[in-house]
Amino acid sequence: MTVSYKELGFVNTREMFKDAMKNGYAVPAYNFNNMEQLQAIITACVESGSPVILQVSSGARKYANATLLRWMGRGAVEMMKELGKPVPVTLHLDHGDSFELCVDCIESGFSSVMIDGSHLPYEENIALTKKVVEYAHKHDVTVEGELGVLAGIEDEVSAEHHTYTDPAQVEDFVKRTGVDSLAISIGTSHGAYKFKVKPGQSVPPLRFDILAEVEKRLPGFPIVLHGASSVDQTAVATINKYGGKLENAVGVPVEQLRKAAASAVCKINVDSDGRLVMTAAIRKVFATKPEEFDPRKYLGPARTDLIAMYKDKNQNVLGSAGRVK
Ligand code: G3H
Ligand code: 13P
Ligand code: ZN
Repeated sequence: MTVSYKELGFVNTREMFKDAMKNGYAVPAYNFNNMEQLQAIITACVESGSPVILQVSSGARKYANATLLRWMGRGAVEMMKELGKPVPVTLHLDHGDSFELCVDCIESGFSSVMIDGSHLPYEENIALTKKVVEYAHKHDVTVEGELGVLAGIEDEVSAEHHTYTDPAQVEDFVKRTGVDSLAISIGTSHGAYKFKVKPGQSVPPLRFDILAEVEKRLPGFPIVLHGASSVDQTAVATINKYGGKLENAVGVPVEQLRKAAASAVCKINVDSDGRLVMTAAIRKVFATKPEEFDPRKYLGPARTDLIAMYKDKNQNVLGSAGRVK
């Protein structure tokens, strides 16, 4: 039996992206795998008055159990009401890799899915994406497709080099699939090692020329940026100070993300930054308070730091803070 996301209190991305496009900001799409991450995302977005997309990857479903995750999502909506200022919440499948997975998520209450056929030949990507869109739209669920391949690892798929999105394909892809938003490849990548640069060297700029060309061909159409963590150097330094080993971890500079958020980019995906902040806080407790063994004593500080990081992103990078009236 299909569970309607509307009954669970989620919304699809349509109105969110309309507002983001009109007002030149991006909606945050934050991944979660556990309770502390979810609490932090919800608390930060409620406190900063930002709409939010809760992202669940298939890896997260395997780790935390798919049923538990969606009930956690529903619980988060209820918690948000109690906190006093509810914000629109989308429950979104990140990097769906099959029609069956998308159907499973839609039937269990997701309000948005990504079907990532970017690794497939063009016509196969179109056929798969179209099939998902046809099913999803019957349930008023929105669909994100992808054109172009990001370097790095996402779930089990990895690519050594970028294949930048070819702007000449975007109109055809959107028209023939009916997708509601499109993820493009302009130089970002997943994980904490986005660019190969020596310490102190600046990272190469994203391909804003490709983004501009895509915008020209798809006026007013919502674009999605994956692999958009900034890899905060303070978090990296804290991890390394307390026994970690992250060498040459670099992310996308915040100015470039601000520029993207002000454009047709309506959704910015962040996972790695949360992982880094959480790891830094936990390592610090382990190193400075070795007598602690209550998980609340290290997961609690991690959650506090996560809230601060997400609020900072909403306020100072994506521009999504204060958008919920
Ligand atoms: O795109 C990848 C996301 O960061 C999700 O990562 O597949 O390890 O959960 P994951
Ligand atoms: P990061 O690894 O840069 O956080 O990207 C996350 C992402 O794109 C999830 O789909
Ligand atoms: Zn991604």
